[in-house]
Amino acid sequence: MPPRKAPDPNATPPRTVAIVVGSLREGSYSRQVARALIDLTPPTLACRFVEIGDLGLYNQDLDPKPPASWTRFRDELRASDAVLFVTPEYNRSIPGGLKNALDIGSRPEGESVFDGMPAGVVSVTPYKLGAFGANHALRQTFVFLNMPVMQQPEAYLGDAANLLDGAGKPKSKETAKFLGDFMAAFAKWVDATRDLGHESFTAFMRRRAAIAAAFVNGEAEPLDEILTRSDPATFFAPSGDGAEGAEAVAERYDADVRSFAPKGENRLEVLQARASGDLAFWTGYQHARARLKGKDEPIPMSLRVTEVFRFEEGGWKLAHRHAEQSGAPPS
Ligand code: FNR
Repeated sequence: MPPRKAPDPNATPPRTVAIVVGSLREGSYSRQVARALIDLTPPTLACRFVEIGDLGLYNQDLDPKPPASWTRFRDELRASDAVLFVTPEYNRSIPGGLKNALDIGSRPEGESVFDGMPAGVVSVTPYKLGAFGANHALRQTFVFLNMPVMQQPEAYLGDAANLLDGAGKPKSKETAKFLGDFMAAFAKWVDATRDLGHESFTAFMRRRAAIAAAFVNGEAEPLDEILTRSDPATFFAPSGDGAEGAEAVAERYDADVRSFAPKGENRLEVLQARASGDLAFWTGYQHARARLKGKDEPIPMSLRVTEVFRFEEGGWKLAHRHAEQSGAPPS
């Protein structure tokens, strides 16, 4: 069995935060505030916008064959450790487009991308009441979505037209401090809640995608952390061969990861993911452009993958992987 390496605290990558803006308007104050928040984010967080403008209305009939925009949105959320909503208030609630995005992310039933995901809310209005209604309507949905949302500090930003200058920077020191303090508190919140208790399989699957990407870049440790150390364990490779037994499987992964070089790309397209008690699986595609050591050109790979996990030693552990070449084009 390859020895487990102690994690290097200095090598901890930043937590990824999806920034979801509730307004679609080009000159949106909410988006300007979101940009200012990103500027003031501590380095332990890496923020990126996840867009909702192209999603189309949620319709349950489309769940078996979801539009590409829904899959893109769900995948981007799944790849994030946390989500920060920056939203205006429409008629004392959240904009319909934002509610629609929440509905899309929450389905199909049992596969919500939001389950267990740490969240934050900043509400923005050019008026005086701080869009309190939107802020709290959003919090109401988090109860059902099982999202731990930061309680303090609260952020109800009124008079939005006068908060930032023409370059999007806070006009006053007080605003800069408020926004910076909010993001510092949010970074702590994400750290504290990210791995709370029994990690939901949905939350784990977001991590699985990042681990697969690291593997394709030649990084062995992230996968090693989630490999089972108990039998039964199996691995069926696209080449048709494989390994059986936890020790042999771990050695096989260790050998395979050595063939990959950095700067590869990888994406999991999850068709189905389910957990029941201490067992879970996902099935779908792994789309990659992997760089093999000693080769200049990246190799496009599209694999049909099924993986099975057991909950062991406080976490989901990979017990079975079956991967075969797929003709499916990357979607
Ligand atoms: C609003 N606006 C608004 N403002 C508010 O503080 N409370 C409210 O209930 C509403 N309701 C409302 C409904 C609709 C349909 C619109 C279009 C607007 C005004 C809103 O705060 C203002 O247009 C902001 O500029 C919208 O945010 P963005 O687009 O600047 O981020």
